[in-house]
Amino acid sequence: MTTIDSPDRAPARVAADPATRGRFITLEGGEGAGKSTLLALVRERLAARGIDVVLTREPGGTPLGEAVRALVLDPAQRGIRAESELLLVFAARAQHVRELIEPALAAGRWVVSDRYTDASYAYQGGGRGQPIERIAALEAWVAPIRPDLSLLLDLPVAQGLARAGARGATDRIEAEDAAFFERVRAVYRERAAAEPGRFRIIDASQPLAAVCAAAATQLDAFLDLAGVAA
Ligand SMILES: Nc1ncnc2c1ncn2[C@@H]1O[C@H](COP(=O)(O)OP(=O)(O)OP(=O)(O)O)[C@@H](O)[C@H]1O
Ligand SMILES: [Mg+2]
Repeated sequence: MTTIDSPDRAPARVAADPATRGRFITLEGGEGAGKSTLLALVRERLAARGIDVVLTREPGGTPLGEAVRALVLDPAQRGIRAESELLLVFAARAQHVRELIEPALAAGRWVVSDRYTDASYAYQGGGRGQPIERIAALEAWVAPIRPDLSLLLDLPVAQGLARAGARGATDRIEAEDAAFFERVRAVYRERAAAEPGRFRIIDASQPLAAVCAAAATQLDAFLDLAGVAA
């Protein structure tokens, strides 16, 4: 079933046929956890089973989203208020959902996103202290689509920051203190514990090969459950 997507009225959206709709997978975790590194593996694993995959990221995924990303990560934007940051990431997400995620899923493609709404609960909620109800209201409004599977790459904050730091210049978020990232990690872990059906926690402190093997095992199990032929 396809309903008319009226761009000016929020709740109307493409209602994908569950039988042909693609699946939505997200990679979550703190700085330097290995999300972006793992995207390539996820693509290969899905492509090997003949799945048409769209890789994307947040903030980002659309021209507007990428522009918002540049703003949000720009160290020169030191004065961005917590409320502004929350609205900016959701403005990017609203565009991402409408322009890329929903149409791709409705067309039967699988979408794999490097971060999604859980990141707002972790960063803007845990990190910045924005009220959870406010985040939930924004989510219900512009990003009601839930991931079918979320891989949480979990590792000690110091280890993640060391990896991210070794990668080069520090962005505006990476410049936060360790307590900020401890709150981010705690919220991610709480969310994963609260939704064990959707989340799989991967110990991202392991060497990359072990992280990839753990992710591959989880993906294969998900594909088997989804009835995708090996
Ligand atoms: N398991 C691992 N062991 C050692 N190094 C790793 C591992 N996973 C990733 N790395 C390295 O750590 C750095 C950060 O990885 P990556 O960019 O994938 O993390 P990320 O989760 O996308 O971080 P960010 O949230 O900052 O975007 C990269 O240089 C990557 O090569
Ligand atoms: Mg990354």
